[in-house]
Amino acid sequence: MKRLMFLGDIVGRNARQTVIAKAADLKASQNCDFLVVNCENAAGGFGVTPSICDDLFGAGIDVLTTGNHVWDKSEISPYIEKEPRLLRPVNMAPEFPGVGVTIVAGDDGTRYGVVNVMANLFMAQNDNAFAAMDKVLNTLKLGRDADAIIVDFHGEATSEKVAMGHYLDGRVSLVVGTHTHIPTADLRILTGGTAYQTDAGMCGDYESVIGMDKDVAISRFTKRGSGRLSVAQGEPSLCGLIVDVDTNGLATAVFPFRSGGALPETP
Ligand SMILES: [Fe+2]
Ligand SMILES: [Fe+2]
Repeated sequence: MKRLMFLGDIVGRNARQTVIAKAADLKASQNCDFLVVNCENAAGGFGVTPSICDDLFGAGIDVLTTGNHVWDKSEISPYIEKEPRLLRPVNMAPEFPGVGVTIVAGDDGTRYGVVNVMANLFMAQNDNAFAAMDKVLNTLKLGRDADAIIVDFHGEATSEKVAMGHYLDGRVSLVVGTHTHIPTADLRILTGGTAYQTDAGMCGDYESVIGMDKDVAISRFTKRGSGRLSVAQGEPSLCGLIVDVDTNGLATAVFPFRSGGALPETP
């Protein structure tokens, strides 16, 4: 049995520094063998930089995923070309640098496959996510090519995300949504043995509008003001989940994880 941990989108410096400070302790105290974190908003809320990635990897994170904000900081392009542990969505145009799939071996030889894929509804144009996953799983077969497979499905619509969960059920260990920054209460193991949650939530300050200063965000909805969105500065909540994976690669148990900040904490 292996235990995986996944944390949702890191939003801004406070959340990033909290994740960096706690990653190794979290892995140890939760008995986790492998930690995946989405970092698409780690640099001031927009994108990620090479030095931030180095700090996150240095803190003990095994693989970093991203999403639509991956290219917000242009200096990430040459870095992602040389760093296969930093993923960008696999169904983006092939002209973009980097990869969307990686296999990382644990200390004991366990092969962890991680896939980052972007949804199509209400998102920028990319290849069809479902067809992209079929293509990926032709060469990344659970049991044959990897002992566990984690899929970060980065998207807005709950319908598309739960459809992907069922579509991949039995073929991967975990399908977890990111991008909305709000954790959903549907964490469970699907009938085919795949752990699923529509959205992991973010690592960020929830006294905000999805991580951004709430007054500016509200003024953009009411049209009574304007201003640049900036990261909310309160104490972050770290949000994600923990999954136990059997020797056959399927999930045997799932637990939500929330720590710190404005959200109720998990035990
Ligand atoms: Fe995000
Ligand atoms: Fe996003």
